[in-house]
Amino acid sequence: MADRNQREPGSSEPSSNSPPPRRNFLVSFLAVVFGAIISFFPLVPGAAVLLDPVLRRKKKVADGETNADFVRITSLDSVPKEGAQQFPVIAHRHDAWNHFPNERIGAVYLRRIGENQENVQCFNAVCPHLGCIFSYVTSRNEFYCPCHNSAFKIDGSKVESSGQVNPSPRPLDELEVDQERLQQGEVWVKFQNFYTGTEERIPKQ
Ligand code: FES
Repeated sequence: MADRNQREPGSSEPSSNSPPPRRNFLVSFLAVVFGAIISFFPLVPGAAVLLDPVLRRKKKVADGETNADFVRITSLDSVPKEGAQQFPVIAHRHDAWNHFPNERIGAVYLRRIGENQENVQCFNAVCPHLGCIFSYVTSRNEFYCPCHNSAFKIDGSKVESSGQVNPSPRPLDELEVDQERLQQGEVWVKFQNFYTGTEERIPKQ
């Protein structure tokens, strides 16, 4: 005997075994909504991981902090007693998501100061005018930048000779030396780059 709920051959009446079209639509709709919610959850921690370095950096800038860290440059014994000498700055560098160990991140000039020459003065080797690396000229006991003829005394101040314009807007950028480590015979410097071409020393983040 034929089931009265099945579609009879040749009949246009829907079979009562299939859910009504409205129920089908509701089930599909809920499946889409739940699927979207479930697939959204893994994105939240992923987005947090991706954005974390950026947000931390923004907070540092807002708090007025810089990216400067103390970096070991050399031993005190390696700093000459006369004049100044350039040393590379080797450190671990990291951008927002990557870590680069032992990279050259800049250069500094070190010179001995103080009564017993036990203290050290440090300058970033980047010219404050437009960013060339300047040199130490032994014969004049001065720093000189060949790009546009800026000259600086051994203490970092500008040389202002009459008739010649010194294009540098400020003296050399002096960097802080860690005094505690200096007592132990090690030269550690708070390495920092600054924007060039400005009178004011503005640290780069
Ligand atoms: S970059 Fe040094 S003088 Fe211009």
